[in-house]
Amino acid sequence: MSKLFMEFLGNDEMLKVLVLGSGAGGGSPQWNCNSDVSKAVRNRKPGTSPRTQSSIAVTADEKNWFLFNASPDLGSQILNNQQMHPKMSPRHSPISGVVLTNGDVDHVAGLLTLRERQNLSIYAHPRVHSVLSENSIFNVLNPDYVDRRNMQMNHKFELEDKQGVGSGIQIEAFEVPGKIALWLEDESKGENFGTEEGDTIGLKISSKMDEDKSFFYIPACAKMTDELAEKLRNSNMVLFDGTLWKNEEMSTSKVGEKTGQRMGHMNNSGPDGSMAAFQNLNVEKKIYIHINTTNPILLGDSNERRLVEENGWEVSYDGMEIKI
Ligand code: MLT
Ligand code: MN
Repeated sequence: MSKLFMEFLGNDEMLKVLVLGSGAGGGSPQWNCNSDVSKAVRNRKPGTSPRTQSSIAVTADEKNWFLFNASPDLGSQILNNQQMHPKMSPRHSPISGVVLTNGDVDHVAGLLTLRERQNLSIYAHPRVHSVLSENSIFNVLNPDYVDRRNMQMNHKFELEDKQGVGSGIQIEAFEVPGKIALWLEDESKGENFGTEEGDTIGLKISSKMDEDKSFFYIPACAKMTDELAEKLRNSNMVLFDGTLWKNEEMSTSKVGEKTGQRMGHMNNSGPDGSMAAFQNLNVEKKIYIHINTTNPILLGDSNERRLVEENGWEVSYDGMEIKI
């Protein structure tokens, strides 16, 4: 079939990605932050834009969407993106469910916005489901409507809505180096604060109709292991942890003490950073997401932005749409 005819028919195998939130925890500007970036965004400096907290939405049919992480800003993200609006009366949502990559506040607090008796399926690692079930505030997600489903690692499956109808979106989850959620850290458990396998995962997301249409979503990652590098090699697209430009950024910006490593995030720059780690992986499209408000790549005219772009990276923004 000719390409033109395919385009006329509509390309059913296609995945669409909508970036709902490109910022890290706290967003940009962060409410109590007056660092260079937060200030510039607040003052609407050209080349900057506000960023809500980390989440993407994906569809294979342009009707039914799955959220990947549910940010505390989900209410305004739904309001600001017509794709997420109800399409039928009196009640409807194009959101079929949510996939969680960890238990961080910026990735789970939006689940509370999804109460109100709407059918949903929520996929997560058993570790993340267990912290949600231990916290009774999440009981607002009434089990008559909301199905909590465990994700098996390294196993490809199709996301289904509450009634078991396939979405055309396949995912394969895998553990990546990371850290237990900040609100669950336990200092008595030693250097890693009680972190266990499954606290942070990455995802390969593909179209069921055409498995060549695929991408990776890894909003938090503490280290590029050889295994992860081999998984990502030659892929079409990776949305990757862009939290900090450098490890000590929080202290040099005078907003905190913690290093990127302490928070479970790789830097963009430096020999141990993501730009260097991706250098020879031949990834077609590399996009930073989950970007902290201290990161100078958020300033359109910064040297750091120029450097990431010279290295073939894009900086995601709220409302960014990508077709795969
Ligand atoms: C992180 O990505 O490090 C966390 O979202 C931090 C937080 O929970 O505020
Ligand atoms: Mn985060």
